[in-house]
Amino acid sequence: MTDCPGIDCAQDRAALSDDGIRLLVDRFYAKVRHDEELGPIFAHAIADEEWPAHLATMRDFWSSIMLTSGRYHGNPVAAHRRAEGITPALFERWLALFAETCAELFDQTTVAAFMDKARRIATSLQLALFYKPEQDRPRAAP
Ligand code: HEM
Repeated sequence: MTDCPGIDCAQDRAALSDDGIRLLVDRFYAKVRHDEELGPIFAHAIADEEWPAHLATMRDFWSSIMLTSGRYHGNPVAAHRRAEGITPALFERWLALFAETCAELFDQTTVAAFMDKARRIATSLQLALFYKPEQDRPRAAP
């Protein structure tokens, strides 16, 4: 089975494995780095020589999320607080590129499972980064 490397072809692209996650992470961040909107944010935050470590972290992250491997130990909120120039609109672009990459590699059910997790995490990151409860509080009655 060599026609879809990295994925267990016995189930016709359906199987999710650490090899599949490796392919996804590599492809996704190759796109991200070339993207007009996201590229500059990542270029500013991650030096060329730091990319192998970042990709390894992201493999561990998705392996923990999708395969419950427990390999990721980090603090995504703190990491994104350091990311200069990050905006809510950029999350839409991130999710669109992620969906596009998943669809290139996995069957529909697996794409849906990745996107469900990605959207939930994107929402919780945005709440942590951008939500200011004091701006939402109803005005006190005069
Ligand atoms: C606008 C969208 C996003 C941008 C611009 C962005 C950017 C970044 C950057 C620059 C880093 C490296 C930070 C550093 O090490 O200093 C990072 C790390 C990371 N990102 Fe994102 N990100 C975005 C959305 C997401 C989403 C939606 C997820 C998850 C579904 C995610 C998961 C992670 C994780 C797990 C790390 C590693 C944190 C660690 O070092 O432990 N990111 N991101």
